[in-house]
Amino acid sequence: MDTAVLSTGTATNSADPKAAPIAPSATDPLWWRSAVIYQIYIRSFADGNGDGTGDLAGVRSRLSYLRDLGVDAIWFTPWYKSPLADGGYDVEDYFGIDPSFGDLEQAEALIREALALGIRTIIDIVPNHISDQHPWFKAALASPPGSPERERFWFRPGRGTNGDEMPNHWVSNFQGDTWTRTTNPDGTPGEWYLHLFTPEQPDLNWNHPDVRTLHEDVLRFWFDRGVAGVRIDSAALLIKDPELPEVPEDAKPGEHPNVDRDEVHDVYRAWRAIADSYPGSRVLVGEVWMPDTERFAKYLREDEMHTAFNFDFMARPWDADQLRESIDSMLAAHAPVGAPSTWVLSNHDVTRPVTRYGREDTSFAFSTKRFHTPTDLALGMRRARAAALLSAALPGSLYVYQGDELGLPEAESIPLESLQDPMHFRSEGVDPGRDGCRVPLPWSGAEPPYGFTPEGASSAPWLPQPADWANLTVEAEAGNSGSMLSLYRTALSIRRSHPALGDGELTWLDGDGFGPESGVLAFARGLGFVSVTNLSGAPVELPSYTRLLLASTPLEDGLLPSDSSAWLRTQH
Ligand code: NOJ
Repeated sequence: MDTAVLSTGTATNSADPKAAPIAPSATDPLWWRSAVIYQIYIRSFADGNGDGTGDLAGVRSRLSYLRDLGVDAIWFTPWYKSPLADGGYDVEDYFGIDPSFGDLEQAEALIREALALGIRTIIDIVPNHISDQHPWFKAALASPPGSPERERFWFRPGRGTNGDEMPNHWVSNFQGDTWTRTTNPDGTPGEWYLHLFTPEQPDLNWNHPDVRTLHEDVLRFWFDRGVAGVRIDSAALLIKDPELPEVPEDAKPGEHPNVDRDEVHDVYRAWRAIADSYPGSRVLVGEVWMPDTERFAKYLREDEMHTAFNFDFMARPWDADQLRESIDSMLAAHAPVGAPSTWVLSNHDVTRPVTRYGREDTSFAFSTKRFHTPTDLALGMRRARAAALLSAALPGSLYVYQGDELGLPEAESIPLESLQDPMHFRSEGVDPGRDGCRVPLPWSGAEPPYGFTPEGASSAPWLPQPADWANLTVEAEAGNSGSMLSLYRTALSIRRSHPALGDGELTWLDGDGFGPESGVLAFARGLGFVSVTNLSGAPVELPSYTRLLLASTPLEDGLLPSDSSAWLRTQH
C-alpha cells in the first residue's frame, strides 16, 4: 500500500462557509480501500478541559499519538449536540458540536490539523432516529394528531378500545417496547410514536421529503468542512412499511417491515451522488448488521456505499473453521460488487476482544452478554494479539477501536450506580450494557485518572477506570517492546509500507499442515508476504521464509505457538 500524499486544499472556516470545500485527498482517490481507521469514542479518548468527559481539545492534543500509531483516518462516534441519552446517537443538532465536546471551530481546526498529519476524519451520521429534544420532535409533540409536524415521525393511534395498546409489537434493538404513548395538552393519553431504540430516539419517517433534505444538507455541511467520509448508523433500518404491519414469522428478504427494505438503497444512491460531487474521495461506510451476505453486498454496489462493517468476522468464535468460513464468505460476497471488505475486531457496542477471546464462548452476540462470565484474560490477550495480526493482514481496510491497541479488557467491575448505557437499563439489568468497553483511556501514571484528565481537573472521568490498569497506559506500553501498543505500531508500520498489504487478494496456503482442518490459517499476500495464525492447541511449523517480520508471541524452537500469529517475508 502506498502512503497517500495528502493535500489540505483550501480550508473553509466557520466564518466563511461558502469558501471552496476542503479536499482531503487530491492524489489518492482509493485511500479508503486500504485504510487503517481508528475509532474515537470521543467521551472517552482524552479530556482537555478537566470536566471528566473527553473532548475535541483532548483529541487535538493527542493527534501525534495517532500519527505515531500509523492510522490513515479517524472515525468519530457522534460529536453533535445531544442530551446523550444513547451516548450521542440521539442528535439534537446535526450542525453543531455538543458543548461538552467543544465547538464547530474546534472541530474544523481538528479536521485540518489531523489532515496535516496525514489523517482523514470520518464522522458518524445518525439518520434513522433523532433526539426527542430536537425542535422537530418538540414541535410534533406540541401539534395535534394528523398535523404536518407529526408526519416527520411515526405517530399512530393505539389499538384497543381506549387506544392503550401499542400500534404493533415490533421488538426494540435495545429490548423493551418500540412505542411510547404521548400525553395530550389536556392531560389525556394521546397517540403513540415509534422508536426502534430508546424513547429518547424517535424514528424518522423517511417517506417525508424534509427528512431526506435534512440529511442531504447534513452531508454537505460536513463535507464542506473537510470530512473525508461518514459512518452511517443503523443503515438498514431507515425505511418502514408505511402500514406498520406485524413482523411476519418468515419475512422474505426485502419484505421485513423495518429492516433492509429495498427502497433504502435509493437513499444511499442519492448520498453517493453528493459524496461524488466533492473533490477527493468522500466515503460512505455503512453500519449494516445483515446475516444474508448477498443482501449485505447490495449496499456496496458501485453507486451506493464504499464499504460496510464486516460484523460477521467480528462475531465469530476463535476457531479456525469458523474464521476461515467467515473470511471466504465475506470476500466472496464483496467480489461481485468490487468493494473491499473491512476487518473489525470490536467497537463501542461490543465486548472487548481481550475479554471475549478469554471466555469459553469466544463468539459475540448481544443476546448472550452477561455479568460474571468466567474469563482468562491472559489467554484472551494472547488471542487478541494474534487476531490483531490476522485482521491487519487480510485484504481491505482495517478498523481499530480506541483502547484495543492497548489491549484493554472489558471493564467489568464498574459499580452498578455508575452504569449509564440504556441497553443495560432496558434489559432490566440482565445485560451488563456497553459501558465496559467505553471506559476512558489510560494515558499515563499508576492510578486513575491515568492522565485522561489534565492535572488539577475538577472532575473524575465520567466512567470510573479500573484500579489495575497501570501497565496498560500508553506511557507504560510505549516503553515496553512486548506490549500490545508496540505490536500494533509495528504491524501498522509494516502494513503501511508493504505493497502487498491492504486492498488486494489473498491466496490460502492449504495442505502440509496448514488449513482449517489443521487449525492453522495461512495465506499469502502478493509474492513476498505470508501471514500464519495458529488456532490449534499445539505449536506448528512455519512455511519456509526469509525473514520473520513480526510475531504476536515469540517463536519456540522455531515453531509458532498456539493462539499466535506470525508475518513472514518469503522472498528476498
Ligand atoms: C448503533 C450504534 O453503534 C450504537 O451505539 C447505537 O446505540 C445504535 N446504533 C442506535 O443509534
